[in-house]
Amino acid sequence: MQNHHSPEPDAPTVFMRTVKSYVLRAGRVTHGQAKAVETLGPQFLLPYRPALVTWPEVFGGSQATGSTRPVVLEIGFGMGEATAQIAATLPGTDFLCCEVHQAGVALYLSA
Ligand SMILES: C[S@@+](CC[C@H](N)C(=O)[O-])C[C@H]1O[C@@H](n2cnc3c(N)ncnc32)[C@H](O)[C@@H]1O
Repeated sequence: MQNHHSPEPDAPTVFMRTVKSYVLRAGRVTHGQAKAVETLGPQFLLPYRPALVTWPEVFGGSQATGSTRPVVLEIGFGMGEATAQIAATLPGTDFLCCEVHQAGVALYLSA
């Protein structure tokens, strides 16, 4: 996507490229995956919103003020296979994982 920016009428048009880090992959969410999102989503999903969140808001009691639990931020967990394996070896660690591919999120929740 490009943004047009012309500060003055006679000034040349400047095209500013915005950074795009991903291409949304198509993927069908099955009935079972949709059900998993519906039932487990309220506990595990934090829909994107353009505002700051607090750790307790994300993790509940496990990240209350003063918590020393480490947090892993994963950007792009795909289908979540690697995340699930890593998380299983680190039970004392909280994971905040981001993914833009909705079918991947649904698959991860239903696994
Ligand atoms: C190459 S895959 C890696 C998946 C996983 N980490 C693994 O190792 O199997 C990259 C993933 O990052 C996601 N992704 C890319 N840019 C992203 C962004 N800005 N925010 C969240 N997810 C993103 C893509 O949708 C894709 O699922």
